[in-house]
Amino acid sequence: MGRILCQLADIVDGDARAFDSVDGRLNGTGGFVVRRGTQAYCYVNDCPHLHITLDFVPGRFMNKDAGLIQCANHGARFEIETGECVWGPCRGDALTSLPIRIVNGTVVLEAPPQ
Ligand code: FES
Repeated sequence: MGRILCQLADIVDGDARAFDSVDGRLNGTGGFVVRRGTQAYCYVNDCPHLHITLDFVPGRFMNKDAGLIQCANHGARFEIETGECVWGPCRGDALTSLPIRIVNGTVVLEAPPQ
């Protein structure tokens, strides 16, 4: 079935929403969903630079002027659609994506393979 994360409409277009790990899948680290129009993208909240959370200010993941995800620690920037780091100390690395689907406006984290 998967885990319901939020409604797509709960996320302002171009912004993100964090969620906690409650199922042990993310090693205690949560994730976040970024909305772009009618699409959404989901990543583990773990910066590939130092493997710490991106949102020094909880829930703030975006450089809205640049239209990119930004790590607050040292400023690495990531493409929304791919999670690839395009600027900063971990350039060329990428965020870990999580599989989601949107069902009637609800963002659902896919269940892990058994
Ligand atoms: S920890 Fe993210 S850029 Fe350094």
